[in-house]
Amino acid sequence: MSTEQRIEKLREFRAKSLEPDNQRAVDRQHDAGKLTARERIELLVDKGTFQEIDPFVQHHATNFGIDQKRPLGDAVVTGWATVDGRNIFVFAEDFTRFGGSLGEVVADKICKVMDLAMDTGTPIVGLKDSGGARIQEGVLGLNGYGRIFERNVRASGVIPQISVIMGPCAGGAVYSPALTDFIYQVEGTSHLFITGPDVIKTVTGEDVSMDDLGGAHAHASLSGVTHFVARDDRDAMDEIRYLISFLPANNMEVPPFFTPLDAPDRMDEDLTTIVPDSANQPYDVIEVIESLVDDGEFYEVHEHWAGNIVIGLARFDGYTVGIVANQPAVLAGTLNIDAAVKAARFVRFCDAFNIPLVTLVDVPGFLPGVDQEHDGIIRHGAKLLYAFSEATVPRITVIMRKAYGGAYLVMNSRAVRADIVYAWPSAEIAVMGAQGAVNVIHRRELAAADDPEVRRTELVADYEDQFNNPYVAAQNGLVDDVIEPRETRPKLIAALEMLRNKRESLPPKKHGNIPL
Ligand code: HXC
Repeated sequence: MSTEQRIEKLREFRAKSLEPDNQRAVDRQHDAGKLTARERIELLVDKGTFQEIDPFVQHHATNFGIDQKRPLGDAVVTGWATVDGRNIFVFAEDFTRFGGSLGEVVADKICKVMDLAMDTGTPIVGLKDSGGARIQEGVLGLNGYGRIFERNVRASGVIPQISVIMGPCAGGAVYSPALTDFIYQVEGTSHLFITGPDVIKTVTGEDVSMDDLGGAHAHASLSGVTHFVARDDRDAMDEIRYLISFLPANNMEVPPFFTPLDAPDRMDEDLTTIVPDSANQPYDVIEVIESLVDDGEFYEVHEHWAGNIVIGLARFDGYTVGIVANQPAVLAGTLNIDAAVKAARFVRFCDAFNIPLVTLVDVPGFLPGVDQEHDGIIRHGAKLLYAFSEATVPRITVIMRKAYGGAYLVMNSRAVRADIVYAWPSAEIAVMGAQGAVNVIHRRELAAADDPEVRRTELVADYEDQFNNPYVAAQNGLVDDVIEPRETRPKLIAALEMLRNKRESLPPKKHGNIPL
């Protein structure tokens, strides 16, 4: 055969690997409001940059007549490409082939790009749309998932791993996305569960729809499994491109710099009035965040879950920062189990990927309740304390209003080695609120008073005067400076700039024992 004939044969092979082997399945995919694996990749990456690998891979299974169908590339499309000029690896499960199910060679292809991503320090995005382990391949499919899980764990904290659920993802297969850093789910078309509605009905008698059980909203607002909800496939790909813009390629790099339109010395007079004078009045901390960060741009993570704490990515003078803020508009900004878990994982993500942390504090304490205690607020609250304490990235705290008790310490206080702590004049740093404190320390006096209510009012006023301010903390160096709200942005930018070359390491150990 001549070289030209060989090239011709290659071209035929290539074309065949791109062809849908089942137009009916492609039509079904489109009718369901879903794009194909290749269409999704095209939307995710910079035009014309996708470099496919393993397009000729074929399965070698023989059971149940599966050998009658051996499409080139099998049921996953893998390769690398650029997003805004920066490399990523991607794998997209192809539901139009064997329902995107995972057999041995599908796992081989995914493991290959995961290994390349690790070897080159490159983020990886997995587009999930699959019927799970390929039934005809039995244990080889299961083993394939095991190999992927192990790689997810090995890559954790080394390269950003992003999962997008764009169809079914069920059974043990859910654990690959669960091990990655961020999960997106597409509204209406994605379902994520360990056991589906039919099995649940049989075992527990509960009636639940696919959507209510494992749809985007269930996991974004109830379980906290999903970080972001996308309207459709296209929206999901846009969102991922945006997320990637905040992230470094790996744990040895710093995040990319974007020149902001915003001036670093911009002050905002509105900050003086966003936080109400009354300590018990709620407000929306997102307004504070948007007023502080570059161009008001804040990418909130876990927007629909544990709203009493707000986490997300933004930039200060062009550099990515992770923000953790109590949200007084929800549960008065108390810390509960979900809030602690949500923020702890985010703090650890930022720490792993060299993203400095800015913490905005307005916290009256932990949420009281029998459920919270019995569901393990002690164990879960400790996660956030642990995560902040061991984070070695620059850490800056701004105490805006309440900072009471253990919650004050947990929220990146000086005691847990915050690098810089600022307080606004409205800060109240105390063991507890004035009413509670007076009831404890003046119990006998109040019981004996002629008019307990009048005396209580006097004692509360005295306590507020002495403790509900930032100056005791500032006198003791626990707050580095008391600043005006309007100057917070320039102050944060100056501190972040000062901390840019911070180098801190933890004592040598195999790993700590975070209270999981
Ligand atoms: C082989 C599969 C498959 C699978 C789907 N297909 N799932 N082939 N192994 N796991 C095939 C179907 O036979 C069909 O082929 C095509 O994919 C499309 O499937 P449909 O059923 O027609 O699609 P739809 O109606 O949209 O339903 C999708 C589905 C359903 C909900 C995913 O197919 C389904 O319930 N599949 C089985 C899911 C499952 O139980 N998987 C194992 C989970 S446990 P044709 O040729 O007709 O087009 C698991 C363990 C992981 O994954 C291990 C981790 C430790």
